[in-house]
Amino acid sequence: MPISPEIFAERMRTMRPSTIREILKVTAQPEIISFAGGLPAPELFPVAEVSAAAASVLAKNGPESLQYGPSEGYALLREWIADEVRSRGVKNVKPTDVLVTNGSQQVLDLVGKIFLNPGDVVLTENPTYLAAIQAFQTLQAKFVPVPTDEFGLVPEAIPELIKLHQPKFLYTIPTFQNPTGITLIKERRAKLAQIAAQHNLLIIEDDPYGKLRYRGEEVPPIKHWDEANCVLYVSTFSKTIAPGLRLGWVVAPEAIFSQLLIVKQASDLHTSSFDQRVAYAYLTQNDQTAHLNKIRSAYGERFDVMDAALKAEMPAGYTWTKPEGGMFLWVTGPKELDGMALLKRAIEQKVAFVPGRDFFPSDAGANYLRLNYSNSTPARIREGVKRLAALCRG
Ligand SMILES: Cc1ncc(COP(=O)(O)O)c(C=O)c1O
Repeated sequence: MPISPEIFAERMRTMRPSTIREILKVTAQPEIISFAGGLPAPELFPVAEVSAAAASVLAKNGPESLQYGPSEGYALLREWIADEVRSRGVKNVKPTDVLVTNGSQQVLDLVGKIFLNPGDVVLTENPTYLAAIQAFQTLQAKFVPVPTDEFGLVPEAIPELIKLHQPKFLYTIPTFQNPTGITLIKERRAKLAQIAAQHNLLIIEDDPYGKLRYRGEEVPPIKHWDEANCVLYVSTFSKTIAPGLRLGWVVAPEAIFSQLLIVKQASDLHTSSFDQRVAYAYLTQNDQTAHLNKIRSAYGERFDVMDAALKAEMPAGYTWTKPEGGMFLWVTGPKELDGMALLKRAIEQKVAFVPGRDFFPSDAGANYLRLNYSNSTPARIREGVKRLAALCRG
C-alpha cells in the first residue's frame, strides 16, 4: 500500500525524531566512548540477585506471576513503594495512592493523555527532559519555560506565567535534573508548593535520580511540602535496580488516580506481573542501602574524574555544572558553538555526547552539551574528554 503523509494523524506533524535515539544506535559500537545515553553502569546491575529473585518467584508463585494482574499494580510492591516514598519525606502516602507503571516514562504519557488538549500549555524548566517534551508534544501541547538559575527554577516567576498562559501543569525534575544536573534548593521547594496551593497549579514532580546522591545534603521532594495535594510524585526503579525491568510509579490523589487508571488500562492493561514480583522479591531479599551505596560511590568517582579531566583539557569559554548526584553534567560552550556539528566530528573521533538543542522545547540551545558519566569507566572518561576537548580547542 502506498503510504501518503496524510494517512498519519495530525499530531505526528508536530513531532520531531529524537536525536538521542538516533545517536544511541551509533554509540552502541564498543569502540565509541559514549557520554550520550542516559544509561546506568551495567556492571552494577544486581544480576545474580535478580536471577535468584526470579527463581524464587517462579518456584513459589509461578502461575500467578505469569498471569494477567491488576492494572493498579502488584499489591505487595505498591506497599513497598508507599513505604519508600514515605521514607523520602512524603507523609501520608497509602499503597492505594500508588500506580505501578511501565517505567516512569509511561506516567508522562498517561498524564499527558488525561490533562492535555491540543494547544494546552505545560510549564517546564528550560532545558528539560527530552522524552517529556516528546510525550507532551504528541498531545500537541505548547511549552512555556519557567526562568531557572543555578538553584533551579524560580518559583516567584510562576504566578505571572499562570496569569499569562493558564498552564495545565508544571513538569519539573527538581533533583539532579536531566539534562543539567541542577537541584532545586529547599527554600524554593517549599515556596513552589505554597504557590501551587495558592494558584491551584498541578505539579508533576519527576524524581528518577534522587536516590543517586553521592555528596551534599539530602533534600526532600517538593511533595514533602505539598499540604494541598497539588503534586503528582513520579519515580522509578530504572536507576536503582535496572531500566530493563521497566518499572516506575506515580503517587496521585484519588480523583486523578482513577483517570490515570482508565488510560493505563486502555494502553497496556497492566505492568508485567512477573517483573513486579521479581522486583518485590529482589527488594525484600537484599540490602538496598548497600547496593545504592555502591552505585553512589561509583558515580561520585566518575563525576570527579570527568570534572577533573574537563578542568585539565577544555579550552577557555567552556563551563559546566557540578551536580552532587545523578548521571549527567551540562556543558555551556561559547555562543557560536554548534553542538550538532561538534557531535558529527566527535563521532569521527569515536566519542559521543548529546547536543543541548534536543532538551529545549524551542530551537534554542545550540551551544550546550550533555555529558553522561555513569556509563563509562574512569579510564574511558579521561580518554573521551581528551578527544572531545581536542575538538573544542579546534
Ligand atoms: C527525567 C526523567 N524522567 C523519566 C525518565 C524515564 O525513565 P524510566 O521510564 O526508565 O523510568 C528518565 C530516563 O532517563 C528521566 O531522565
